[in-house]
Amino acid sequence: MKAIIYHSLSKHKRSEQIAKSFEGDHFKIEPVKPPVRFYPFQLMLYGFLTVSGRSVDYKPLDIDWSKYDEVVLVSPVWAGRVNAYMRQFLRDNEFHDKKVTIVASCDGGYKKYFDSYKGLIDGCNEIVDKQVYVKGELVQTK
Ligand SMILES: Cc1cc2nc3c(=O)[nH]c(=O)nc-3n(C[C@H](O)[C@H](O)[C@H](O)COP(=O)(O)O)c2cc1C
Repeated sequence: MKAIIYHSLSKHKRSEQIAKSFEGDHFKIEPVKPPVRFYPFQLMLYGFLTVSGRSVDYKPLDIDWSKYDEVVLVSPVWAGRVNAYMRQFLRDNEFHDKKVTIVASCDGGYKKYFDSYKGLIDGCNEIVDKQVYVKGELVQTK
């Protein structure tokens, strides 16, 4: 059984659509504060939060990890790396012995994305796939 964990910000909700294409239980990481909607401000605020490594607040998620043998992590790439909300979720939630698929939703720049998960996923888990979607289209799978 898969737990699909995702964050999605843009009006296109690309990560959400990608997440929904996986079968399993879906968990959405939602910021406590209403998201900024104006794209230039999004780039400044969320880019800053992501690059600076700051903590962010999201609504609590109740996940019974024992129900799942697979975890799928879907989120937009911010500043080339894992975005602040998915990072915070992974800092707060340690899971063990799962098969993990990491998915990037981006506009084409994702060089540091998979590396930026280092230290966020316990080594007892197995990364089984890394997928990249550019503007909603799957362009790379491990
Ligand atoms: C703060 C911020 C930083 C971003 N940085 C990148 C980036 O480094 N590379 C890239 O290809 N897209 C970047 N984007 C675009 C999103 O990753 C892309 O549009 C993604 O598909 C949006 O997913 P969503 O619809 O689930 O929010 C950025 C967007 C935001 C808001």
